[in-house]
Amino acid sequence: MEHGRGMTEGLCQALAEEIEILKKERKAVILAHYYQRPEIQDIADFVGDSLQLSQRAAIIDAEVIVLCGVHFMAESAAILAPDKVVILPEANAGCPMADMVDAEGLRAYKKRVPGVKVVCYVNSSAEVKAESDICCTSSNAVKVVQSLQGQDILFIPDENLGRYVARILGQTLQLWPGYCKTHDRLTKEDILKARKEHPLAKVIVHPECREEICQEADYISSTAGLIAYAQNSESHDFIVGTESGILHRLYQVCPDKEFHLASERLVCPNMKLTTLAKVRDALIALSPRITVKEEIRVKAKEALERMLAL
Ligand code: 13P
Ligand code: SF4
Repeated sequence: MEHGRGMTEGLCQALAEEIEILKKERKAVILAHYYQRPEIQDIADFVGDSLQLSQRAAIIDAEVIVLCGVHFMAESAAILAPDKVVILPEANAGCPMADMVDAEGLRAYKKRVPGVKVVCYVNSSAEVKAESDICCTSSNAVKVVQSLQGQDILFIPDENLGRYVARILGQTLQLWPGYCKTHDRLTKEDILKARKEHPLAKVIVHPECREEICQEADYISSTAGLIAYAQNSESHDFIVGTESGILHRLYQVCPDKEFHLASERLVCPNMKLTTLAKVRDALIALSPRITVKEEIRVKAKEALERMLAL
């Protein structure tokens, strides 16, 4: 697999040029997540983590938003920018973690534990956000939970991120048993092996990793946080415990440093479904379009806006 050196072969170049023309015709902006393929990051107007993508979608000046990421990201854009046409180039690009909680299950939990405040990781459906008090991403989860001090909190759906936040704050949280199938593939043995091969390297991991991985890490943060850490660190070598797509940006911002993916299994199949051809086709057809029912959208927006206000 290509890690971050950019694909400039003829076909990619031709598709990128077609996309550039279509983008202008459609008055479209392309937003991409750091886990996208290198060639998708290269044609994007903005590449960011989940929080940055939501912030951008909320203020964007365009008629069409092409969200190169997974379904919940496009849905967040549709919730925050209802006057825009939001396109997800690959309709099947979902997030298995987001599917681990549904609105019905959450309603049942709230009935069992009256008064509990629900902090909802953005990796969730609009219906689930609509049932939640406030959203968070991995870059602001600690701050969001802190803002609810003294209250009974249920953290959904990522058990690992919730446990990480609880540990940082020294607080007990009720945790929903969801997890990221991609980060879950990383084992402690992978980290120990990588440390043996690169003894001077710093281990940087995403909080979606299992607890035993986080305990081995030198630094834990969202994708944007890991990139900033690598940029500002004096170290030259890094063992990277998150999805492979991040290597593209890491090599762009730190061309003289070395990044070692902690495991070749750190590839999110859903993030990799988006291709240049699909972005081109989506711009032509303005489809697949992501929309959210108005009554759900309004409630989900409240939970997202409470997060953005922090
Ligand atoms: P962040 O970019 O917010 O760290 O999100 C990671 C992720 O798993 C998105 O699916
Ligand atoms: Fe979902 Fe994990 Fe893929 Fe992110 S990396 S989209 S959390 S499965």
